[in-house]
Amino acid sequence: MNSAHWWKEAVIYQIYPRSFYDSNGDGEGDLAGITSKLEYVKKLGVDAIWLSPFYTSPNKDGGYDVSNPRDVDPRFGNLNDAKVLINSAHELGLRIIADIVPNHFSDQHEWFQAALKSAPGSPERSRFHFYDARPDGTPPNNWISLFGGPSWTQVDDGQYYLHLFDSSQPDLNWDNAEVHEDFEKTLRFWIDLGVDGFRIDVAHGLVKENVLANHPDPQGLSNALRLDVAMDTEKRNELLVSVPYFDRQGVHEIYRKWRKIFDSYSNRDIMAVAEAWVHPPVNATRYVRADELHQVFNFDLLTAEFNAQVLYEVIERSISLNATVGALPTWALSNHDSPRVASRIGEEESRALALFVFGLPGSTYIFAGQELGLPDGELKDSDRQDPSFFRTNGEVKGRDGARVPLPWNGSNSPFGFTSGKPWLPIEQSWKAFNVENQEADAKSTLHLYRTALELRKRYLTSNGEITWINSPVSGEKLQAVLSYSRGSITIVLNLSDVAYECQIQGQPLVVSTGEIDVHNGKKLIPARSCAWFIA
Ligand code: GLC
Repeated sequence: MNSAHWWKEAVIYQIYPRSFYDSNGDGEGDLAGITSKLEYVKKLGVDAIWLSPFYTSPNKDGGYDVSNPRDVDPRFGNLNDAKVLINSAHELGLRIIADIVPNHFSDQHEWFQAALKSAPGSPERSRFHFYDARPDGTPPNNWISLFGGPSWTQVDDGQYYLHLFDSSQPDLNWDNAEVHEDFEKTLRFWIDLGVDGFRIDVAHGLVKENVLANHPDPQGLSNALRLDVAMDTEKRNELLVSVPYFDRQGVHEIYRKWRKIFDSYSNRDIMAVAEAWVHPPVNATRYVRADELHQVFNFDLLTAEFNAQVLYEVIERSISLNATVGALPTWALSNHDSPRVASRIGEEESRALALFVFGLPGSTYIFAGQELGLPDGELKDSDRQDPSFFRTNGEVKGRDGARVPLPWNGSNSPFGFTSGKPWLPIEQSWKAFNVENQEADAKSTLHLYRTALELRKRYLTSNGEITWINSPVSGEKLQAVLSYSRGSITIVLNLSDVAYECQIQGQPLVVSTGEIDVHNGKKLIPARSCAWFIA
């Protein structure tokens, strides 16, 4: 393992700019707001920041609908603010990862506007997927959008265009050389401005196959792709094994080309991480072959139950699959698209799981607010903004709950996030979570994260593989305890509802999520908690 690469075992902090900190009182976070809080981020002990999109956008999908990928949306500031943010982060030793959105543009992008004004078959239309209607006037195929409803929208002259997401997000045609050139220009633009890497949005979606063929079970496929829809595993696997618009072989050629661009900045160590929801899990390793990208997200922990067997399998599989291509895994408990981990598995459980995961080899992603133990915000339907809420007529509540702005200080909502009205309401009960209160409380989740990340850097990073001590396949066969050692640290996770008497002899405790009772050389690890011991 070459630990010289900064990203190999980096801790990466994801900021959703709209929700982080508002510097100008308009109720939405902005780039200057992030710059003003960099010391806070640095103090957390992370290595890099991934910024969700801040580019020019009508904001139909939280900025993932980009109308100019080489400029900053006025709601977030301007290019100079981006430059100042990047430089200030670098001065503190923090790297910046930008989000690139290559599957689609916004319908407000000049290319799409030009396509609308041009004739069917024109070069302007060929940058997107425009096709004639079927003879009966229906769309070219029966695919369903990931946000609900048909994947096609008809324009005035009768042609349809493809959009895997919202109708305001037309998919780009990656068979068109201009699309390649434009994205290569965008990559260089941000690298030249100083960014250290990219998170690639919907990295598995760029290449489509059989665009004119109906899918045999479009509703089944649509359900199989949704994490919130329960489905028989065999059925789900059957549907996901071949999706005409995901994980096609052609995407890898694109990333091989991009890798050459990254490597051409020979003194910069530019990295990229793929958002690739693919099936079966082994397919994810293709994205991190030596001549492709550097990391691929492992989303398993976003849905895994707090259960020893499940967690063991997810962790083992990710480590061993990545090893087959010489890559290290990535870990994420929350992001802007999923329920926050504290709401999903519980407050205590989420602290314990984070501590357990921080010891693992590879890169860890932390979604801003996770270090405060934030739950999802409770929202009224009238507050919601996610396009998936509207496209499913409210059947899918959407992702706004995870995007409620961060509480910083003070006794009253919006807790210093903004001097105006926050774009999503912040509950009064979030007072207890605010940064100021957690700073003052040595037992807070914030202090837990800081301590753990510092110890991770000191004792764990670059310390090779883990050795399982208790696992569902180890001798002891404990149902609800997982433990491993790595370097000089032993990490024990008690998933059960009762305290676990751990036989570790003579190893002092360095950090834990519950009060560890030590007696007669034995250590009592409370229910639903995790502890690190040092040899
Ligand atoms: C990715 C983003 C998500 C966005 C979608 C469409 O999955 O993470 O927020 O809605 O792509 O761009």
